[in-house]
Amino acid sequence: MRNLYGVIGDPIAHSMSPVMHNAAFLELQLNHVYFPFHITPDSLADGIKGMKALGIMGFNVTIPHKEKILPLLDKIDPLAKAIGAVNTVVREKDGFTGYNSDGLGFIRALKEEWKSDVSNEKVLIIGAGGAAKAIYYSLVYEGVHSIDICNRTKERANELVEACPFPCQSNVLTLKEAEENLDKYTLIVQTTSIGMSPNIELSPISLQNLKRDTHIVDIIYNPFETKILKDAKKKGATISNGLGMFIYQGAIAFEKWTGITPNIEVMKKVVKNHLGGSTSC
Ligand code: ATR
Repeated sequence: MRNLYGVIGDPIAHSMSPVMHNAAFLELQLNHVYFPFHITPDSLADGIKGMKALGIMGFNVTIPHKEKILPLLDKIDPLAKAIGAVNTVVREKDGFTGYNSDGLGFIRALKEEWKSDVSNEKVLIIGAGGAAKAIYYSLVYEGVHSIDICNRTKERANELVEACPFPCQSNVLTLKEAEENLDKYTLIVQTTSIGMSPNIELSPISLQNLKRDTHIVDIIYNPFETKILKDAKKKGATISNGLGMFIYQGAIAFEKWTGITPNIEVMKKVVKNHLGGSTSC
């Protein structure tokens, strides 16, 4: 019998996780298969019971279920609990355990695509939504000790920092304050939806004060190169888009399910084909 895996969300038809995981299973000749499952918010509890009854070995969780799923699971990993969101569920001996591999996927991509030790970077995160929280908490969890955060709504960034259970030195800034102090940072992470297709001419901040040797990551991958990444390149900075974070959050989930490291190049290739283009990632 084949082992079943999947992803739950609403909507779910657009998800690239099935092609990515099925390609990785196939390449390793594993007798596993990964399906998208459309579960609406009002049937989430029944959906989880169904996943359990059907013997699903693990699944990913996407919008809008990442937070609401926590009380429906048997165990939550400490990082996922701190973030308050789960994107990966693993069937373990005592039931379903929830993990969050979004921020850890971001860090692994950063290490692969930029540099292997990021613990001494001076980081600025732009945005204070769910993605920013996963990245901020994961960076702190991994030992990065200087992370500032700027957001249109400063209060939301304050709440994010104050709720973090792991110690970190952080200043909370407005977008304007961040623009004025950009030369302080060696790593800038753009987590808002600004610049995403179709609004590709927009950027959340001006990069006038950016230093040449800064690295900028935009977690968007549609388009592959957002306005902020284009601006950063013009200033001589190095850049990464969000494709790496997507691939590595999937790779971490894959490792938790199977105990095997998947072939990243295979995963990257099918996702790029699916998106219909090439990228520097
Ligand atoms: P996600 O969970 O994907 O991170 P989210 O929780 O909706 O999404 O967060 C979106 C982020 O983009 C927030 O930081 C938001 O700023 P606010 O907290 O002030 O809402 C930011 N954002 C979205 N649209 C924006 C805009 N037009 N200008 C500035 N920031 C914006």
